Amino acid sequence: MPLFLAPMAGVTDLAYRLLAREVGADLTFTEFTAASGLSRHAKHSWLKVESDPRESPFIPQIFGGDIGEMVQTVKLLQDRADIIDLNFGCPAPKVCRNDAGAALLRNPDKVVEMVRSCIDAADIPITVKMRLGTGSGPNTALEICQRIEAEGVKRICVHGRTLRQRYSGESDWSQIRDIVDAVDIPVIANGDVVDAKSAADCIEATGAAGLMIGRGAIGRPTIFDEIKRDLGWISNDPIWGEENQAIARSWCWERYLELSDEVYEEGQCKNMKRHAVSFTKGLPGASKMRVDLHNIQDQKTLGIRISKYLRDLAEEPQIAM
Ligand SMILES: Cc1cc2nc3c(=O)[nH]c(=O)nc-3n(C[C@H](O)[C@H](O)[C@H](O)COP(=O)(O)O)c2cc1C
Repeated sequence: MPLFLAPMAGVTDLAYRLLAREVGADLTFTEFTAASGLSRHAKHSWLKVESDPRESPFIPQIFGGDIGEMVQTVKLLQDRADIIDLNFGCPAPKVCRNDAGAALLRNPDKVVEMVRSCIDAADIPITVKMRLGTGSGPNTALEICQRIEAEGVKRICVHGRTLRQRYSGESDWSQIRDIVDAVDIPVIANGDVVDAKSAADCIEATGAAGLMIGRGAIGRPTIFDEIKRDLGWISNDPIWGEENQAIARSWCWERYLELSDEVYEEGQCKNMKRHAVSFTKGLPGASKMRVDLHNIQDQKTLGIRISKYLRDLAEEPQIAM
């Protein structure tokens, strides 16, 4: 059963994706990237779809409301990508206003036409990530899944919430099951998997071909390895040594810094501060230490400060979380 690291804007940068793979994620995606930017060769958009030979397969995720721009982007991207994922799930108003992301689910015909046009333009597989419809008007999710399967989509990942719900309520795994039952291509279940128990429950409830984990993997990339270990899928020792959260976080932070050094120009890791906050969230003394972070401007110093904090914690025997 493959476990996917969900695409997350501002979180799943290249170094983080490589780290997640080292600690158990089977597949990773870039954060969603605007077809309007990529098709116009905007540098900041192309920086989001950088990869590394260690990230194989490489799956950039794109979004847009204009079919022509999406097709153009597929053509431009496919030389460097193994698969291209189309986003029909983003609820952000500034995306939905342009008739992109989850807003497209309002219009099944347009989704199908966009998917067909992208598949026609592509020499590589096209996959889709979507929600359970918009939450207003008729539910279009199941119909869309069947129609895009017929167009040749290779895999669908379903986040079990509607556009209207954004992140509220619970992911509706039973509706994911209805989709799993209605199509023959692999369906990946997404939403509210945060540990081995919820992973097992989600597999049972949905019958999905794989699970995708988002928020549960923020600051805790080892969640993939932990789920596999707890469910008895793997039995080797963790790569970070002991089964201890403080040690795991410290190991992951060091590795994140190393990978960032390898893949980014100095000082160009744009999510480092955010990861610093996530990696230390909920740990003893973390809020006090975070106040100090406001005064740190350069990334090297930030990295060292967090390293020291996590290492000290890992060495305290009573904090085996
Ligand atoms: C900070 C953040 C950024 C996200 N960015 C994206 C994105 O770029 N593309 C996408 O398809 N979904 C994005 N999502 C949605 C997640 O991929 C996932 O569908 C959602 O968080 C539900 O899964 P979870 O309950 O495991 O978090 C984002 C979610 C979060 C929390």
